[in-house]
Amino acid sequence: MPQIVHTEGESNTSEARKAWLRKSMGPKSTPLLKRDADVFLHQSLSSPCVSTIAKAEGIWIEDMEGRRYMDFHGNSVHHIGYGHPRLVAAIKAQLDDLPFAPRRFTNDPAVDLAEKLADIVPGDLGKMLFTTGGSDANEVALKIARAATGRFKTISFWDAFHGAGFGAASVGGEATFRSHIAGPLLSGTEHVAPFACYRCPYNHAGPETCGLACAKMVEYVLEREGDVAAVIAEPMRAVPYVPPPGFWRSVREACNRHGALLIMDEIPTGLGKTGRMFAFEHDEIIPDIVTLGKALGGGILPIAACVARKQLDVCGDFAIGHYTHEKNPVTARAALTTLQIIEDEGLVHRSATLGEHAISRLMDELQNVPTVGDIRGRGLMFGVEIVDDRADKTPGNARAERIYYACLEAGLSYKISQGCVLTLSPPLTISQSDLDHAIDIVVAAIKAES
Ligand SMILES: Cc1ncc(COP(=O)(O)O)c(C=O)c1O
Repeated sequence: MPQIVHTEGESNTSEARKAWLRKSMGPKSTPLLKRDADVFLHQSLSSPCVSTIAKAEGIWIEDMEGRRYMDFHGNSVHHIGYGHPRLVAAIKAQLDDLPFAPRRFTNDPAVDLAEKLADIVPGDLGKMLFTTGGSDANEVALKIARAATGRFKTISFWDAFHGAGFGAASVGGEATFRSHIAGPLLSGTEHVAPFACYRCPYNHAGPETCGLACAKMVEYVLEREGDVAAVIAEPMRAVPYVPPPGFWRSVREACNRHGALLIMDEIPTGLGKTGRMFAFEHDEIIPDIVTLGKALGGGILPIAACVARKQLDVCGDFAIGHYTHEKNPVTARAALTTLQIIEDEGLVHRSATLGEHAISRLMDELQNVPTVGDIRGRGLMFGVEIVDDRADKTPGNARAERIYYACLEAGLSYKISQGCVLTLSPPLTISQSDLDHAIDIVVAAIKAES
C-alpha cells in the first residue's frame, strides 16, 4: 500500500527499501504478497506489490499487519476521503434501485451527472461521454479532435502521463509507458519539453525575462507542423509543476492561430485538488475539451468523462466511446454524489486554504535546509524536491528515498515522483491538525537527512 513510484534508473532494491520490507512484512502480508506476485503479470510501478491493504477510511489506510498511514497519494482518487458515508449510502441505494443500464437505455443518474458536469465546466463545454477510466477518456478526446479538425497530429509533453492505452501512451511522455512495446505507437504524436520553471535555465525569472520560451516551443511546433489536431496536456503537472504565469494563455492563443484544439487532462488535478474546481481556471483559459476521472468516482468506483464544447459533437456517425459501462447508473450516481459532497462541504475552498497553509509552513521550516531544492504546488497538490546540493540541483534520489521510508515509519504514505520529489496530495477532507502532523513528519525526516 505505501506508494513509491520508481522512475527510470531508480533502484528497486535499495538498502532503504530492503530494510523497510524486512521490517514491514509480517505473517499476514507475506503470504498474500507471494500469491499476488505469483498470479499477476509483473509490470513496472505496480506488480509485484510492496505491501498489503486491509482498510481504507477517510485519510487513512491500514495494512494487514495493522499499520496505519495517512494516505497522501491515493492515486488522486480520494478527494472526499475513503468510504465517505454519504457516498456509500448513495451507492447502496442506487444498487437497490437500478444496478445497470445496457447500452441505448438511458437513466436518470447518467443524465443528471452529464447535466451537472455541463453546469460546472466553464464555457460551452456541455457535451460528453463517460468511460470507465481516464486513459479511455483521453482517447475519446483524441478521436473527437481528429474528427473535428480532419487532422491527426498532436502535441504533448515529454514526461507527461495520460494513461496506459495505446493512444494515451502515445501522447504520454514517460519512458516506462512507451518503451519495450514492440512496434510503433501512434504516428503524428509530437512531443515538446514540458514547462518546469525550477529546472529551466531561467529558474523562475518570470515571463518578462524568460519570454515564456516553453510556450513558444509549443507554437513553434504548431507552426512547423502546420496541421496539428490538438495540444493535450495536464494544466498543472502532478509532479507537481505549476505552469508559469501566462503559459496557458499563450498556448491557448497559439492553438487558435493554428487551428488546433486544446485538450486539458484534468484527471488528477480536477474537482478541486489545486484549489479551483479545474486547474486550468488558475490560468484563465477555457480549453476545447476536458477529461476527468479518478476522484470523479469518489474513491470507490471507476468512472471518467470526456467533456467537449457543444460544437464538437461531430462524431454522430462513428462509435468513439462505445464502452460497456458508458451509462452505468451506479458509477454515475457515485460521481454525482461526489460532486454534491465537494460542493456541500466547500472542499474546493478548503483545498485552497489548507494548501496555502501547508506550502507556507514548508517554506518557513525548510528555507535554510540545503537539501531542499524547491517547494511548489497549488492547493492540496504540493511537493518538496530533494537535491544533493542546492547550488547545482543534483537530484537527491537516494536521500529522497530514505526520507520516504522514515515518513512511512512515522505513519505517512505518499509518492516520490521523478526520483526526488516528495509528492504530497492528501484528501480535501483532511483536518488541519492531521495536515500539520503530516508536515511535522515530513519536515523532521528531511532535516534528519540534510
Ligand atoms: C494525468 C493523467 N491522465 C490520465 C490518467 C489515466 O487514468 P486511468 O488510470 O484511470 O486510466 C492518469 C492516471 O494516473 C493521469 O494521472
